[in-house]
Amino acid sequence: MGRTVLVSGATRGIGREAVKQLREQGFSVFATGRDRHLLDQLKKDTGCLGETCDLSDSSSVLSMYETARAALGQVDVLINNAGLNPGKTPVVDVPVEDLDVSYAVNLRAPYLLCREALKDMGARKTGHILNVVSTIARTSAPNYSTYCSLKYAMHGFTLCLIKEAQQVNVKVTGVYPGGTDTDFRPENRPDYLKPESAAQMIVQCINAPEDVVVHELVYRPMIETNF
Ligand SMILES: NC(=O)c1ccc[n+]([C@@H]2O[C@H](COP(=O)([O-])OP(=O)(O)OC[C@H]3O[C@@H](n4cnc5c(N)ncnc54)[C@H](OP(=O)(O)O)[C@@H]3O)[C@@H](O)[C@H]2O)c1
Repeated sequence: MGRTVLVSGATRGIGREAVKQLREQGFSVFATGRDRHLLDQLKKDTGCLGETCDLSDSSSVLSMYETARAALGQVDVLINNAGLNPGKTPVVDVPVEDLDVSYAVNLRAPYLLCREALKDMGARKTGHILNVVSTIARTSAPNYSTYCSLKYAMHGFTLCLIKEAQQVNVKVTGVYPGGTDTDFRPENRPDYLKPESAAQMIVQCINAPEDVVVHELVYRPMIETNF
């Protein structure tokens, strides 16, 4: 497997920890997120490449992919990790604007990045795409309909992508972490997974033997019971 990785949502949480671990293992990494200060700090700390990008804008998503591809030479591994938690809201109160931005960040952006990456990887007949979904796509939760429905959509998309990518020898993994103690929610959750642990599972999957494809990687903190 190649050694260049594009990581979205790399300025915080699981993505930031994945970049650190990948850099320690010698991967060339292109990191992206919105927060310029956090991205610059990550670049300084790890030596990764990177550029800010607001994934809610589809043209920015496509130009960011081109920049990453040029900077890395080629994208061997894509980690679609960025995600937006719009918070808890009952269906009857969800503003249309929240629905639109959640769709753009949680489904459209990773979809477009998969599309672009699969063109390149398929032509080379090698590569690995990892889509970070969530265990919420295995269950349901009141007041979480926007996030939950888009993660279900990401799950369905990933299942289709697995079959298309298989035809061109590209690995696809749906990653389903359980609750992880990141900036994703306002409160601290020390009983959840540490972001470095959640990232370690992803990095281990990238390092799986060449003849192995992990289609689904489901993992949870011990306290989680949504299965
Ligand atoms: N934490 C959990 O309990 C949990 C559980 C299951 C699955 N997940 C999934 O794991 C992934 C990572 O979550 P996390 O917990 O690490 O979250 P996090 O700490 O909130 O980090 C989210 C990352 O996504 C980026 N992002 C959000 N909106 C963006 C936008 N419009 N454009 C570009 N980047 C954007 C953020 O960048 P900026 O801040 O720089 O904008 C940040 O780097 C997500 O897909 C999430 O759904 C999380």
